[in-house]
Amino acid sequence: MNVLPEKIVFPERTLMGAGKAQNLLAECARYGRRGLLVHGRSLAAHGALQPILQNSPGGMDVAAWEHAGDEPGLADLDRLLAAARAHRADWIAGIGGGSVLDLAKACAGLFHAPHPPAAYHNGAAIEAPGLAFAAVPTTAGTGSEATVNAVLTNSATRHKKSIRNDALMARLVILDPTLLAHCPKRVIAHAGMDALTQALEAFTSRHAVWLSDDLGLKALALIGAHLEDFYRGADPAAAEQVLTGSYLAGLSFAMARLGVVHGIAHPLGVRYHLPHGYVCGVCLPHAVELNRDAMGGKYEQASRALGRDLLDFIRQLLIRLDMPSPFRGQPIIEKDAIIRETIAAWSTQANPKPITPADVEWLLGRLFGS
Ligand SMILES: [Fe+2]
Repeated sequence: MNVLPEKIVFPERTLMGAGKAQNLLAECARYGRRGLLVHGRSLAAHGALQPILQNSPGGMDVAAWEHAGDEPGLADLDRLLAAARAHRADWIAGIGGGSVLDLAKACAGLFHAPHPPAAYHNGAAIEAPGLAFAAVPTTAGTGSEATVNAVLTNSATRHKKSIRNDALMARLVILDPTLLAHCPKRVIAHAGMDALTQALEAFTSRHAVWLSDDLGLKALALIGAHLEDFYRGADPAAAEQVLTGSYLAGLSFAMARLGVVHGIAHPLGVRYHLPHGYVCGVCLPHAVELNRDAMGGKYEQASRALGRDLLDFIRQLLIRLDMPSPFRGQPIIEKDAIIRETIAAWSTQANPKPITPADVEWLLGRLFGS
């Protein structure tokens, strides 16, 4: 196994600690005077946005843009780009969950791009460098603050996929656990299972290297040890531990890629309109069963990091987080297309076991079987 990947792309600066997000505008001043702060609905509703906007160094001109929906689409990005260009922004900050971060990240990356976002969603290379991007997560799960991809849905074709470019990496990341105080329990569970899945898929990816393994295994241990306490509100320190684990999982999968859970999660999520982390969580135990032989000694290593048998741990955690399968007993919509899209997915191609159509059919049988 290689020690390092062919390329390492990390955020330029990462600040960690309670209250650090209050300095967001002062930190962003180094990127220019004019900024656009992209946020979700709940941040403003809970009164957490205003103090950040008001704590501004003199001479800054910062506008706020609210993303009203959940899963971001190309139409949202079109509107956001128009707003950012109209404001003549020097930098873009995203403060929110994965949807907000992905949208803000894509906006920063495509700010100077000559073509509409759909062209880049279809695979065109990004020609011009974008604006500086600052990422401030308010959920612990997607790891978007640590990656160079932005997942967006084309509502016309229902294709959910990534715009991916090294230039999309955040210049600044602020990990402030106080922002997670109002995170709904459902989001804690779903995002947390997304992070756990990302840690494990990166750790077992066929592109894993020593560095991604160390990051992924630490992420697995932190999330595994603290997610249930965070969900139950049992330990005030748990949010910070899961936020840290989620960031490490993001760094790890940015190097090592993911696996079949992320390959199948997008086609299922688009068709059943379910949160990404929910789909990942309920797919994970079946994928681990499928991959168990191909994982080799990593199954035991992951079990040691979690303090008990890996498969048993995941199944129990899903019960404790109140995450029953939403697919059980449902009809499978567009089965052939789901299989085709899963096989073609960039993540599936990194899965430890080479995935065949029969494997995807087996996974679907386990997920939807009564
Ligand atoms: Fe994910």
